Amino acid sequence: MLKRGRRLRRNESVRSLVRETVLTPDDFILPLFVVEGEGIKREIESMPEVYHYSLDKLEEVINEVLDLGIKGVILFGIPENKDCLGSEAYNDLGIVQKAIRKIKKINKDLLVITDVCMCEYTDHGHCGILHGEYVDNDETLKYLDKIAVSHAKAGADMIAPSDMMDGRVQTIRESLDNAGFKEVSIMSYSAKYCSAFYGPFRVAANSAPSFGDRKTYQMDPANRREALREVFEDIEEGADIVMVKPAMSYMDIIREVKDNTDMPVAAYNVSGEYSMVKEAAKKGLVDGDRIIIELLTSMKRAGADIIITYHALEASKLLKR
Ligand code: PBG
Repeated sequence: MLKRGRRLRRNESVRSLVRETVLTPDDFILPLFVVEGEGIKREIESMPEVYHYSLDKLEEVINEVLDLGIKGVILFGIPENKDCLGSEAYNDLGIVQKAIRKIKKINKDLLVITDVCMCEYTDHGHCGILHGEYVDNDETLKYLDKIAVSHAKAGADMIAPSDMMDGRVQTIRESLDNAGFKEVSIMSYSAKYCSAFYGPFRVAANSAPSFGDRKTYQMDPANRREALREVFEDIEEGADIVMVKPAMSYMDIIREVKDNTDMPVAAYNVSGEYSMVKEAAKKGLVDGDRIIIELLTSMKRAGADIIITYHALEASKLLKR
């Protein structure tokens, strides 16, 4: 007998009845860039409608996040001074540490997640401590520990290591536990690829490596099975949530991780993916509103339980319509 698939597409009522994936603001985490200074809400040149905020300007955006029903933010700090050890990253009075306290004062229930990495804080722009031109894995771990604990001390709910050093989840878990932060969770950037899609972020954070690239620590975009090895390793080491990054051109990896683990899966819809969509929409090449919802829905359909996205505010508004 002829199957008439169109019966279930006849009108919005029936379509919504059989819809398999429903996006909500609960799915989103909004990345925020915080800077030193006062009165700053400055648009980032490489990322339309994304801003650098000074602490005194955070309240406005945090209230918007809360009003829209978004449950979490992930913080990126841009320090005034960078050095070879990235020492501002573990300064208890550093920009991220201050931002955590500020946000917790505005609302203690909003989830505050922090990116733990060194590239925004090192003068050479690499994600760890250098020995010559090589990023020293085990030396870097000691610093990641210090950064994670200082974020936890400031009140972070969740630590998200994005450096791709081997063994960082285990050592951060141990350090958090020893410092009395057993309840602070770890969302690991488990399958983080060496991607050209981070371009606009590196302008925003002024964190492009001053020489070389990140190929000796971030993953080769050509690899799928390796992603599972990285994910399993992080689960073994104590990760609470595993992440795939980027999202848009790595949806097969999101699905792979979803099918092969019982962990919550996060996907990071990164800066390059974001800015491409915004610029194409500005030019009138695509319908921006529809593209945004379609892309985010696709990420959820691929298996993402959590989507970290610069579109979080506008997408949440679109969903309320
Ligand atoms: C820090 C970090 C980066 C991103 C998130 N955490 C930059 C990088 O690895 O170069 C990229 C996020 C984005 O592009 O939106 N290591």
